[in-house]
Amino acid sequence: SMKKEINKFLYFYRFLATVEMMGELKWWQKTVVYQIYPKSFCDSNGDGIGDIPGIISKLDYLQNLGVGAIWLCPIYPSPLVDNGYDISDYCSVAKEYGTMEDMERLISEADKRNIKIVMDLVFNHTSDKHKWFEESRSSKDNPKRDWYIWRDGKEDGSAPTNWRSIFGGSAWTLDEKTNQYYLHTFASAQPDLNWENKEVRQALFDAANFWLDKGVRGFRLDAIVYIKKPSEFKDLPVDGADNLASIAKATTYQDGILDFLHEFREKVFDRADIFTVAEADGVYPSDFDKWIGENGAFDMSFDFSHIRLGFDEDCTWHKRKSWKLIDIRKCFTEDEEATKDNGWVPVYFENHDLPRCTNYFFPQGTDTKLAAKFIATILLTMRGTPFIYEGQELGMTNIKWPSIKMYNDISSIGQYELALKDKLTPKEAMKGVWKYSRDNARSPMTWNSGSKAGFTTGRPWLPLNDEYPNLNVETETEDENSVLNYYKNLIKLRKQYPALIEGDYEELLSYSPGIYAYARTTKDKSERIIVIANTTAKIRGYKIPELKGATLLASTYGNREATLLRSYEVRVYKVKK
Ligand code: GLC
Ligand code: CA
Repeated sequence: SMKKEINKFLYFYRFLATVEMMGELKWWQKTVVYQIYPKSFCDSNGDGIGDIPGIISKLDYLQNLGVGAIWLCPIYPSPLVDNGYDISDYCSVAKEYGTMEDMERLISEADKRNIKIVMDLVFNHTSDKHKWFEESRSSKDNPKRDWYIWRDGKEDGSAPTNWRSIFGGSAWTLDEKTNQYYLHTFASAQPDLNWENKEVRQALFDAANFWLDKGVRGFRLDAIVYIKKPSEFKDLPVDGADNLASIAKATTYQDGILDFLHEFREKVFDRADIFTVAEADGVYPSDFDKWIGENGAFDMSFDFSHIRLGFDEDCTWHKRKSWKLIDIRKCFTEDEEATKDNGWVPVYFENHDLPRCTNYFFPQGTDTKLAAKFIATILLTMRGTPFIYEGQELGMTNIKWPSIKMYNDISSIGQYELALKDKLTPKEAMKGVWKYSRDNARSPMTWNSGSKAGFTTGRPWLPLNDEYPNLNVETETEDENSVLNYYKNLIKLRKQYPALIEGDYEELLSYSPGIYAYARTTKDKSERIIVIANTTAKIRGYKIPELKGATLLASTYGNREATLLRSYEVRVYKVKK
Protein backbone atom coordinates (compact mmCIF):
# COMPACT_ATOMS: atom_id res chain seq x y z
CA SER A 1 0.00 0.00 0.00
CA MET A 2 0.82 3.66 -0.26
CA LYS A 3 1.46 3.99 3.47
CA LYS A 4 3.88 1.12 3.39
CA GLU A 5 5.74 2.69 0.51
CA ILE A 6 5.98 6.00 2.34
CA ASN A 7 7.21 4.27 5.45
CA LYS A 8 9.78 2.39 3.47
CA PHE A 9 10.89 5.65 1.91
CA LEU A 10 11.07 7.36 5.30
CA TYR A 11 12.97 4.45 6.73
CA PHE A 12 15.45 4.56 3.90
CA TYR A 13 15.76 8.33 4.19
CA ARG A 14 16.46 8.08 7.90
CA PHE A 15 18.99 5.36 7.24
CA LEU A 16 20.78 7.61 4.77
CA ALA A 17 20.67 10.48 7.21
CA THR A 18 22.23 8.29 9.90
CA VAL A 19 24.96 7.12 7.60
CA GLU A 20 25.64 10.68 6.66
CA MET A 21 25.64 11.76 10.29
CA MET A 22 28.13 9.09 11.18
CA GLY A 23 30.04 10.02 8.08
CA GLU A 24 30.48 13.46 9.54
CA LEU A 25 33.03 12.07 11.94
CA LYS A 26 36.53 11.92 10.55
CA TRP A 27 38.84 8.93 10.98
CA TRP A 28 40.80 10.66 13.72
CA GLN A 29 37.67 11.30 15.76
CA LYS A 30 37.02 7.59 15.91
CA THR A 31 40.51 6.44 16.71
CA VAL A 32 42.71 6.08 19.79
CA VAL A 33 46.11 7.77 19.69
CA TYR A 34 49.19 6.35 21.39
CA GLN A 35 52.11 8.64 22.17
CA ILE A 36 55.66 7.31 21.85
CA TYR A 37 58.72 8.93 23.39
CA PRO A 38 61.26 7.32 21.04
CA LYS A 39 64.23 7.48 23.38
CA SER A 40 62.36 5.45 25.99
CA PHE A 41 60.17 3.04 24.06
CA CYS A 42 62.23 0.13 22.77
CA ASP A 43 65.94 -0.24 22.00
CA SER A 44 66.80 -2.60 19.14
CA ASN A 45 70.60 -2.43 19.17
CA GLY A 46 71.64 -2.45 22.80
CA ASP A 47 72.95 1.12 23.05
CA GLY A 48 70.40 1.86 25.78
CA ILE A 49 68.48 4.33 23.60
CA GLY A 50 65.11 3.51 22.10
CA ASP A 51 64.98 3.67 18.29
CA ILE A 52 62.75 3.38 15.22
CA PRO A 53 63.44 -0.34 14.54
CA GLY A 54 62.45 -0.86 18.19
CA ILE A 55 59.15 0.89 17.55
CA ILE A 56 58.54 -1.23 14.43
CA SER A 57 59.06 -4.38 16.51
CA LYS A 58 56.21 -3.30 18.80
CA LEU A 59 53.62 -2.42 16.17
CA ASP A 60 51.83 -5.73 16.69
CA TYR A 61 51.53 -4.91 20.37
CA LEU A 62 49.97 -1.54 19.53
CA GLN A 63 47.61 -3.03 16.99
CA ASN A 64 46.52 -5.58 19.52
CA LEU A 65 45.92 -2.84 22.08
CA GLY A 66 43.57 -1.24 19.57
CA VAL A 67 45.29 2.04 18.74
CA GLY A 68 44.88 3.65 15.33
CA ALA A 69 47.53 6.36 15.38
CA ILE A 70 50.93 6.97 16.89
CA TRP A 71 52.06 10.44 17.91
CA LEU A 72 55.79 10.18 17.60
CA CYS A 73 57.77 12.66 19.71
CA PRO A 74 60.66 14.23 17.74
CA ILE A 75 62.95 11.80 15.90
CA TYR A 76 64.92 14.51 14.07
CA PRO A 77 68.67 15.10 14.46
CA SER A 78 69.21 16.95 17.72
CA PRO A 79 71.93 17.64 20.28
CA LEU A 80 69.31 16.29 22.72
CA VAL A 81 69.61 19.16 25.18
CA ASP A 82 65.83 18.90 25.48
CA ASN A 83 65.65 15.34 24.17
CA GLY A 84 64.76 16.14 20.59
CA TYR A 85 62.75 19.32 21.15
CA ASP A 86 65.94 21.09 20.05
CA ILE A 87 66.05 20.19 16.37
CA SER A 88 69.07 20.70 14.14
CA ASP A 89 67.50 19.45 10.89
CA TYR A 90 63.77 19.20 10.20
CA CYS A 91 64.03 16.86 7.24
CA SER A 92 66.12 13.97 8.47
CA VAL A 93 66.33 11.39 11.22
CA ALA A 94 68.62 11.35 14.27
CA LYS A 95 71.27 8.68 13.88
CA GLU A 96 70.54 7.48 17.45
CA TYR A 97 67.03 6.59 16.26
CA GLY A 98 67.81 5.16 12.82
CA THR A 99 67.66 6.26 9.20
CA MET A 100 65.17 7.76 6.79
CA GLU A 101 64.63 4.23 5.45
CA ASP A 102 63.66 3.16 8.97
CA MET A 103 61.12 5.99 9.10
CA GLU A 104 59.68 5.02 5.73
CA ARG A 105 59.46 1.43 6.91
CA LEU A 106 57.76 2.55 10.12
CA ILE A 107 55.14 4.45 8.13
CA SER A 108 54.44 1.53 5.80
CA GLU A 109 54.53 -1.20 8.47
CA ALA A 110 52.19 0.86 10.64
CA ASP A 111 49.91 1.38 7.66
CA LYS A 112 49.66 -2.39 7.16
CA ARG A 113 48.25 -2.55 10.67
CA ASN A 114 45.92 0.36 10.10
CA ILE A 115 47.98 2.64 12.29
CA LYS A 116 48.78 6.16 11.16
CA ILE A 117 51.90 8.11 12.05
CA VAL A 118 51.65 11.60 13.51
CA MET A 119 54.75 13.79 13.76
CA ASP A 120 55.71 16.36 16.34
CA LEU A 121 56.53 19.73 14.76
CA VAL A 122 58.72 21.92 16.92
CA PHE A 123 58.49 25.20 15.05
CA ASN A 124 58.72 27.86 17.75
CA HIS A 125 62.48 27.33 17.95
CA THR A 126 65.36 25.28 16.57
CA SER A 127 68.49 23.96 18.19
CA ASP A 128 71.38 26.43 18.42
CA LYS A 129 73.22 23.84 16.32
CA HIS A 130 70.78 24.17 13.42
CA LYS A 131 72.61 25.53 10.39
CA TRP A 132 70.06 28.37 10.16
CA PHE A 133 71.09 29.58 13.59
CA GLU A 134 74.78 29.07 12.95
CA GLU A 135 74.43 31.34 9.93
CA SER A 136 72.23 33.79 11.79
CA ARG A 137 74.68 34.26 14.62
CA SER A 138 77.70 34.55 12.32
CA SER A 139 77.26 38.28 11.58
CA LYS A 140 74.74 41.08 11.82
CA ASP A 141 74.37 41.24 8.05
CA ASN A 142 74.05 37.53 7.36
CA PRO A 143 70.92 36.89 5.24
CA LYS A 144 69.61 34.64 8.02
CA ARG A 145 70.20 37.19 10.78
CA ASP A 146 66.52 38.06 10.76
CA TRP A 147 65.47 34.38 11.00
CA TYR A 148 65.88 34.61 14.77
CA ILE A 149 65.13 37.33 17.30
CA TRP A 150 68.15 39.54 18.03
CA ARG A 151 68.21 42.64 20.22
CA ASP A 152 70.72 44.97 21.82
CA GLY A 153 71.03 44.83 25.60
CA LYS A 154 69.81 47.64 27.85
CA GLU A 155 72.07 50.63 28.34
CA ASP A 156 73.89 48.91 31.21
CA GLY A 157 74.50 45.89 29.01
CA SER A 158 71.93 43.66 30.72
CA ALA A 159 69.32 41.60 28.88
CA PRO A 160 66.76 43.50 26.72
CA THR A 161 63.87 42.52 29.03
CA ASN A 162 63.41 40.78 32.37
CA TRP A 163 61.71 37.73 30.89
CA ARG A 164 62.34 34.31 32.43
CA SER A 165 62.53 31.38 30.05
CA ILE A 166 60.17 28.49 30.68
CA PHE A 167 63.05 26.30 31.86
CA GLY A 168 64.37 29.01 34.21
CA GLY A 169 66.95 31.79 33.89
CA SER A 170 66.81 34.73 31.50
CA ALA A 171 65.07 34.21 28.15
CA TRP A 172 67.93 36.14 26.52
CA THR A 173 71.46 34.92 25.85
CA LEU A 174 74.24 37.27 24.84
CA ASP A 175 76.15 36.13 21.79
CA GLU A 176 79.65 37.55 22.10
CA LYS A 177 80.43 37.39 18.41
CA THR A 178 78.04 40.20 17.50
CA ASN A 179 77.39 41.48 21.02
CA GLN A 180 73.62 41.09 20.73
CA TYR A 181 71.14 38.97 22.65
CA TYR A 182 68.93 36.29 21.11
CA LEU A 183 65.56 35.30 22.51
CA HIS A 184 64.70 31.79 23.69
CA THR A 185 61.36 30.84 25.23
CA PHE A 186 62.93 27.60 26.47
CA ALA A 187 66.64 26.71 27.01
CA SER A 188 69.41 28.88 25.58
CA ALA A 189 70.12 25.97 23.22
CA GLN A 190 66.62 26.55 21.75
CA PRO A 191 66.65 29.97 20.01
CA ASP A 192 63.20 31.20 18.89
CA LEU A 193 62.54 31.53 15.19
CA ASN A 194 61.26 34.84 13.85
CA TRP A 195 57.87 33.99 12.35
CA GLU A 196 57.49 37.58 11.09
CA ASN A 197 60.00 36.65 8.39
CA LYS A 198 58.24 35.19 5.36
CA GLU A 199 61.18 33.01 4.39
CA VAL A 200 61.17 31.42 7.84
CA ARG A 201 57.51 30.55 7.55
CA GLN A 202 57.99 29.10 4.09
CA ALA A 203 60.97 27.00 5.23
CA LEU A 204 58.88 25.59 8.07
CA PHE A 205 55.90 24.84 5.83
CA ASP A 206 58.25 23.11 3.39
CA ALA A 207 59.55 20.90 6.19
CA ALA A 208 56.02 19.94 7.24
CA ASN A 209 55.12 19.20 3.63
CA PHE A 210 58.20 17.02 3.31
CA TRP A 211 56.71 14.73 5.98
CA LEU A 212 53.21 14.92 4.52
CA ASP A 213 54.65 13.64 1.27
CA LYS A 214 56.22 10.73 3.17
CA GLY A 215 52.73 9.72 4.26
CA VAL A 216 52.37 10.99 7.79
CA ARG A 217 48.76 11.59 8.75
CA GLY A 218 48.90 14.23 11.40
CA PHE A 219 50.88 16.81 13.30
CA ARG A 220 51.20 17.80 16.91
CA LEU A 221 52.28 21.43 17.02
CA ASP A 222 54.76 22.00 19.81
CA ALA A 223 54.68 25.22 21.84
CA ILE A 224 52.70 26.82 19.04
CA VAL A 225 51.07 29.47 21.25
CA TYR A 226 54.38 31.34 21.55
CA ILE A 227 55.28 31.86 17.88
CA LYS A 228 53.88 35.40 17.69
CA LYS A 229 55.85 37.88 19.75
CA PRO A 230 54.40 41.18 20.99
CA SER A 231 55.06 44.24 18.89
CA GLU A 232 56.95 45.86 21.74
CA PHE A 233 59.37 44.11 24.10
CA LYS A 234 58.84 45.47 27.61
CA ASP A 235 59.78 44.49 31.16
CA LEU A 236 57.00 42.78 33.10
CA PRO A 237 56.27 42.99 36.83
CA VAL A 238 58.71 40.63 38.60
CA ASP A 239 57.03 37.36 39.67
CA GLY A 240 59.82 35.33 41.28
CA ALA A 241 62.80 35.26 43.60
CA ASP A 242 65.09 35.51 40.57
CA ASN A 243 63.84 39.04 39.80
CA LEU A 244 62.43 37.92 36.48
CA ALA A 245 58.95 37.48 35.03
CA SER A 246 57.61 34.54 33.04
CA ILE A 247 58.03 35.05 29.29
CA ALA A 248 54.71 33.29 28.77
CA LYS A 249 52.97 36.42 30.04
CA ALA A 250 54.39 38.38 27.12
CA THR A 251 54.18 35.84 24.32
CA THR A 252 51.19 33.52 24.78
CA TYR A 253 48.49 33.69 22.09
CA GLN A 254 49.33 37.17 20.87
CA ASP A 255 47.21 39.19 18.47
CA GLY A 256 48.08 38.29 14.93
CA ILE A 257 49.04 34.68 15.64
CA LEU A 258 45.95 33.45 13.80
CA ASP A 259 47.18 34.96 10.54
CA PHE A 260 50.33 32.83 10.74
CA LEU A 261 48.32 29.76 11.62
CA HIS A 262 45.79 30.17 8.83
CA GLU A 263 48.65 30.46 6.39
CA PHE A 264 50.04 27.23 7.88
CA ARG A 265 46.67 25.55 7.46
CA GLU A 266 46.32 26.66 3.86
CA LYS A 267 49.84 25.73 2.80
CA VAL A 268 50.12 22.48 4.74
CA PHE A 269 47.22 21.10 6.76
CA ASP A 270 44.57 21.43 4.06
CA ARG A 271 46.67 19.47 1.58
CA ALA A 272 45.80 16.04 2.96
CA ASP A 273 43.40 14.03 5.11
CA ILE A 274 45.30 14.56 8.33
CA PHE A 275 44.60 15.85 11.81
CA THR A 276 46.35 18.59 13.72
CA VAL A 277 46.53 19.02 17.46
CA ALA A 278 48.01 22.12 19.04
CA GLU A 279 49.98 22.15 22.24
CA ALA A 280 48.30 25.27 23.53
CA ASP A 281 49.03 26.06 27.14
CA GLY A 282 47.14 29.28 27.78
CA VAL A 283 44.44 28.83 25.13
CA TYR A 284 41.14 28.12 26.86
CA PRO A 285 37.79 26.69 25.78
CA SER A 286 36.52 30.28 25.47
CA ASP A 287 39.07 30.78 22.66
CA PHE A 288 38.21 27.55 20.84
CA ASP A 289 35.81 29.01 18.27
CA LYS A 290 38.69 30.92 16.69
CA TRP A 291 41.42 28.43 17.47
CA ILE A 292 40.03 25.04 16.32
CA GLY A 293 37.41 23.58 14.01
CA GLU A 294 35.62 25.28 11.12
CA ASN A 295 37.06 28.76 11.54
CA GLY A 296 40.16 27.86 13.48
CA ALA A 297 43.58 26.71 12.38
CA PHE A 298 43.65 23.28 14.04
CA ASP A 299 41.39 20.29 14.49
CA MET A 300 42.11 19.88 18.18
CA SER A 301 43.92 21.67 20.97
CA PHE A 302 45.29 20.28 24.23
CA ASP A 303 43.55 22.13 27.03
CA PHE A 304 45.76 22.36 30.14
CA SER A 305 42.95 23.20 32.58
CA HIS A 306 42.87 19.83 34.38
CA ILE A 307 46.65 19.67 34.45
CA ARG A 308 46.95 23.11 36.04
CA LEU A 309 44.49 22.54 38.88
CA GLY A 310 47.28 22.29 41.44
CA PHE A 311 49.23 25.33 40.29
CA ASP A 312 49.27 29.08 40.37
CA GLU A 313 49.57 30.95 37.14
CA ASP A 314 53.35 30.69 37.02
CA CYS A 315 53.38 26.89 37.53
CA THR A 316 56.23 26.90 40.00
CA TRP A 317 56.68 23.37 41.33
CA HIS A 318 57.21 24.35 44.93
CA LYS A 319 54.18 26.66 45.02
CA ARG A 320 51.17 24.43 44.92
CA LYS A 321 47.56 24.98 45.83
CA SER A 322 45.19 22.31 47.00
CA TRP A 323 42.59 20.83 44.72
CA LYS A 324 40.32 17.81 44.49
CA LEU A 325 39.91 15.18 41.81
CA ILE A 326 36.26 16.22 41.35
CA ASP A 327 37.56 19.52 39.96
CA ILE A 328 38.31 17.76 36.67
CA ARG A 329 34.53 17.67 36.11
CA LYS A 330 34.41 21.40 35.44
CA CYS A 331 37.38 21.16 33.05
CA PHE A 332 35.90 18.38 30.96
CA THR A 333 32.43 19.84 30.87
CA GLU A 334 33.86 23.15 29.69
CA ASP A 335 35.83 21.42 26.92
CA GLU A 336 32.77 19.47 25.85
CA GLU A 337 30.47 22.49 25.86
CA ALA A 338 32.97 24.49 23.84
CA THR A 339 33.29 21.78 21.18
CA LYS A 340 29.68 20.65 20.98
CA ASP A 341 29.20 22.08 17.51
CA ASN A 342 32.70 23.01 16.48
CA GLY A 343 36.11 21.49 17.05
CA TRP A 344 36.96 18.36 18.95
CA VAL A 345 38.61 17.48 22.26
CA PRO A 346 41.87 15.54 22.54
CA VAL A 347 41.37 13.75 25.87
CA TYR A 348 44.55 13.13 27.84
CA PHE A 349 45.91 12.62 31.33
CA GLU A 350 49.56 11.93 30.58
CA ASN A 351 52.29 12.93 28.17
CA HIS A 352 56.07 13.24 28.14
CA ASP A 353 55.91 16.52 30.09
CA LEU A 354 53.81 15.23 32.96
CA PRO A 355 54.22 12.85 35.87
CA ARG A 356 52.31 9.57 35.85
CA CYS A 357 48.56 10.07 36.27
CA THR A 358 48.40 7.35 38.93
CA ASN A 359 50.29 9.72 41.22
CA TYR A 360 49.38 13.11 39.82
CA PHE A 361 45.60 13.06 40.16
CA PHE A 362 45.31 11.13 43.43
CA PRO A 363 46.32 11.69 47.05
CA GLN A 364 49.48 9.99 48.21
CA GLY A 365 48.88 6.39 49.24
CA THR A 366 46.06 5.72 46.75
CA ASP A 367 46.12 2.22 45.24
CA THR A 368 47.78 3.01 41.90
CA LYS A 369 46.05 0.18 40.09
CA LEU A 370 42.64 1.58 41.03
CA ALA A 371 43.86 5.03 40.10
CA ALA A 372 45.06 3.81 36.69
CA LYS A 373 41.71 2.16 35.97
CA PHE A 374 39.84 5.26 37.12
CA ILE A 375 41.71 7.38 34.59
CA ALA A 376 41.38 4.73 31.85
CA THR A 377 37.61 4.73 32.21
CA ILE A 378 37.22 8.49 31.96
CA LEU A 379 39.74 8.70 29.12
CA LEU A 380 38.00 6.08 27.01
CA THR A 381 34.38 7.02 27.65
CA MET A 382 34.76 10.78 27.17
CA ARG A 383 33.66 12.50 23.97
CA GLY A 384 36.84 13.22 22.03
CA THR A 385 39.95 11.46 20.80
CA PRO A 386 41.76 9.62 23.60
CA PHE A 387 45.54 10.00 23.83
CA ILE A 388 47.42 7.30 25.74
CA TYR A 389 51.03 7.91 26.69
CA GLU A 390 53.41 4.92 26.63
CA GLY A 391 53.26 3.00 29.90
CA GLN A 392 50.00 4.64 30.96
CA GLU A 393 48.24 1.47 29.79
CA LEU A 394 50.32 -0.45 32.35
CA GLY A 395 49.38 1.83 35.23
CA MET A 396 52.99 2.99 35.42
CA THR A 397 53.97 5.07 38.46
CA ASN A 398 56.41 7.91 39.22
CA ILE A 399 60.11 7.30 39.85
CA LYS A 400 61.89 8.81 42.85
CA TRP A 401 65.63 9.24 42.58
CA PRO A 402 67.56 10.54 45.60
CA SER A 403 69.66 13.23 43.94
CA ILE A 404 68.98 15.94 41.36
CA LYS A 405 72.17 14.75 39.65
CA MET A 406 70.35 11.63 38.53
CA TYR A 407 67.76 13.66 36.64
CA ASN A 408 68.10 14.34 32.93
CA ASP A 409 65.05 16.60 32.41
CA ILE A 410 66.17 20.25 32.15
CA SER A 411 62.96 21.58 33.58
CA SER A 412 63.59 19.53 36.76
CA ILE A 413 66.97 21.17 37.14
CA GLY A 414 65.54 24.65 36.48
CA GLN A 415 62.73 24.17 39.00
CA TYR A 416 65.12 22.74 41.59
CA GLU A 417 67.34 25.81 41.30
CA LEU A 418 64.36 28.13 41.49
CA ALA A 419 63.28 26.42 44.71
CA LEU A 420 66.75 26.89 46.24
CA LYS A 421 66.62 30.58 45.28
CA ASP A 422 63.32 30.73 47.09
CA LYS A 423 65.18 29.50 50.22
CA LEU A 424 63.90 25.93 50.22
CA THR A 425 66.32 23.29 51.50
CA PRO A 426 67.66 20.83 48.92
CA LYS A 427 65.51 18.16 50.52
CA GLU A 428 62.37 20.25 50.17
CA ALA A 429 63.31 21.16 46.62
CA MET A 430 63.56 17.46 45.74
CA LYS A 431 59.95 16.96 46.77
CA GLY A 432 58.81 19.13 43.89
CA VAL A 433 61.08 17.24 41.52
CA TRP A 434 59.72 13.87 42.63
CA LYS A 435 56.21 15.05 42.14
CA TYR A 436 56.50 16.87 38.83
CA SER A 437 59.68 15.84 37.03
CA ARG A 438 59.18 15.02 33.39
CA ASP A 439 61.55 12.09 33.92
CA ASN A 440 58.68 10.35 35.72
CA ALA A 441 57.23 9.63 32.31
CA ARG A 442 60.55 9.26 30.50
CA SER A 443 61.89 6.30 32.44
CA PRO A 444 61.94 3.47 29.86
CA MET A 445 58.91 1.45 28.82
CA THR A 446 58.81 -1.94 30.52
CA TRP A 447 58.13 -4.96 28.34
CA ASN A 448 58.89 -7.88 30.66
CA SER A 449 60.27 -8.74 34.09
CA GLY A 450 63.78 -9.56 32.82
CA SER A 451 66.81 -7.66 34.10
CA LYS A 452 66.44 -4.74 31.65
CA ALA A 453 62.67 -4.94 31.44
CA GLY A 454 62.96 -5.97 27.80
CA PHE A 455 63.69 -2.33 26.94
CA THR A 456 67.33 -2.91 26.02
CA THR A 457 70.13 -5.43 26.32
CA GLY A 458 72.52 -2.67 27.33
CA ARG A 459 72.38 0.08 29.91
CA PRO A 460 69.14 2.08 29.73
CA TRP A 461 69.82 5.81 29.16
CA LEU A 462 67.58 6.58 32.13
CA PRO A 463 67.06 4.19 35.06
CA LEU A 464 64.10 1.80 35.01
CA ASN A 465 61.15 2.19 37.33
CA ASP A 466 61.66 -0.04 40.42
CA GLU A 467 58.17 -1.42 40.05
CA TYR A 468 58.75 -2.88 36.61
CA PRO A 469 58.84 -6.56 37.70
CA ASN A 470 55.09 -6.21 38.33
CA LEU A 471 54.29 -3.44 35.89
CA ASN A 472 55.26 -4.66 32.45
CA VAL A 473 53.57 -5.79 29.25
CA GLU A 474 54.29 -9.51 29.56
CA THR A 475 53.17 -9.90 33.18
CA GLU A 476 50.07 -7.79 32.63
CA THR A 477 49.08 -9.59 29.46
CA GLU A 478 48.71 -12.78 31.47
CA ASP A 479 46.75 -11.20 34.31
CA GLU A 480 43.12 -10.77 33.35
CA ASN A 481 42.62 -8.07 36.00
CA SER A 482 45.62 -6.03 34.92
CA VAL A 483 45.47 -2.39 33.94
CA LEU A 484 46.65 -3.39 30.46
CA ASN A 485 43.75 -5.77 29.90
CA TYR A 486 41.38 -3.17 31.28
CA TYR A 487 42.62 -0.69 28.65
CA LYS A 488 42.22 -3.30 25.93
CA ASN A 489 38.65 -4.06 26.97
CA LEU A 490 37.67 -0.41 27.12
CA ILE A 491 39.12 0.28 23.69
CA LYS A 492 37.04 -2.63 22.42
CA LEU A 493 33.92 -1.25 24.10
CA ARG A 494 34.56 2.09 22.45
CA LYS A 495 34.47 0.42 19.08
CA GLN A 496 31.41 -1.63 19.95
CA TYR A 497 29.15 1.17 21.25
CA PRO A 498 28.65 4.14 18.91
CA ALA A 499 27.47 6.28 21.84
CA LEU A 500 31.02 6.27 23.19
CA ILE A 501 32.36 7.82 20.00
CA GLU A 502 29.63 9.90 18.40
CA GLY A 503 27.33 10.32 21.38
CA ASP A 504 26.85 13.75 22.92
CA TYR A 505 28.02 14.54 26.44
CA GLU A 506 25.78 15.53 29.30
CA GLU A 507 26.93 16.06 32.86
CA LEU A 508 24.77 14.37 35.51
CA LEU A 509 24.57 14.75 39.29
CA SER A 510 26.23 18.16 39.06
CA TYR A 511 25.34 18.90 42.67
CA SER A 512 27.34 15.93 43.95
CA PRO A 513 30.51 16.91 45.79
CA GLY A 514 32.27 13.60 45.16
CA ILE A 515 30.69 11.90 42.18
CA TYR A 516 31.41 12.72 38.58
CA ALA A 517 28.75 11.27 36.29
CA TYR A 518 27.89 11.82 32.66
CA ALA A 519 25.80 10.36 29.89
CA ARG A 520 26.73 9.70 26.27
CA THR A 521 23.78 9.44 23.94
CA THR A 522 23.62 8.84 20.21
CA LYS A 523 21.87 11.50 18.13
CA ASP A 524 18.90 9.25 17.42
CA LYS A 525 18.72 8.48 21.17
CA SER A 526 18.83 4.74 20.51
CA GLU A 527 21.86 4.21 22.70
CA ARG A 528 22.63 5.84 26.03
CA ILE A 529 25.63 5.08 28.18
CA ILE A 530 26.16 6.41 31.68
CA VAL A 531 29.49 6.70 33.45
CA ILE A 532 29.61 7.19 37.22
CA ALA A 533 32.89 7.88 38.96
CA ASN A 534 33.59 8.07 42.66
CA THR A 535 36.33 10.71 42.82
CA THR A 536 37.02 10.03 46.50
CA ALA A 537 38.43 7.25 48.67
CA LYS A 538 35.15 7.04 50.63
CA ILE A 539 32.26 4.73 49.82
CA ARG A 540 29.42 6.67 48.22
CA GLY A 541 25.84 6.15 47.18
CA TYR A 542 24.11 7.79 44.22
CA LYS A 543 20.69 7.89 42.65
CA ILE A 544 20.14 7.68 38.92
CA PRO A 545 16.63 6.22 38.40
CA GLU A 546 17.10 5.53 34.70
CA LEU A 547 19.79 2.97 35.58
CA LYS A 548 17.08 0.51 36.59
CA GLY A 549 17.68 -2.64 34.58
CA ALA A 550 20.82 -1.19 32.96
CA THR A 551 23.69 -3.41 31.83
CA LEU A 552 27.07 -3.00 33.46
CA LEU A 553 29.60 -2.72 30.61
CA ALA A 554 32.71 -2.08 32.70
CA SER A 555 33.80 -1.34 36.22
CA THR A 556 37.16 -0.62 37.77
CA TYR A 557 36.33 -3.36 40.28
CA GLY A 558 35.75 -5.98 37.59
CA ASN A 559 32.62 -8.04 38.09
CA ARG A 560 32.72 -7.81 41.87
CA GLU A 561 29.33 -6.14 42.20
CA ALA A 562 28.17 -3.82 44.95
CA THR A 563 25.38 -1.31 45.40
CA LEU A 564 27.49 1.54 46.68
CA LEU A 565 30.44 2.95 44.81
CA ARG A 566 33.70 1.86 46.35
CA SER A 567 36.92 3.89 46.69
CA TYR A 568 37.63 5.51 43.29
CA GLU A 569 35.28 3.11 41.58
CA VAL A 570 34.04 3.97 38.10
CA ARG A 571 31.18 2.13 36.38
CA VAL A 572 29.96 2.22 32.82
CA TYR A 573 26.31 1.29 32.22
CA LYS A 574 24.19 0.92 29.15
CA VAL A 575 20.70 2.19 29.87
CA LYS A 576 17.85 -0.22 29.16
CA LYS A 577 15.70 0.88 26.24
C1 GLC B 1 56.80 21.42 24.59
C2 GLC B 1 57.22 19.99 24.69
C3 GLC B 1 58.30 19.88 25.71
C4 GLC B 1 59.46 20.74 25.26
C5 GLC B 1 59.03 22.17 24.96
C6 GLC B 1 60.06 22.89 24.17
O1 GLC B 1 56.22 21.88 25.77
O2 GLC B 1 56.14 19.17 24.95
O3 GLC B 1 58.72 18.57 25.91
O4 GLC B 1 60.45 20.75 26.25
O5 GLC B 1 57.85 22.24 24.22
O6 GLC B 1 60.09 22.44 22.86
CA1 CA C 1 69.13 1.99 20.16
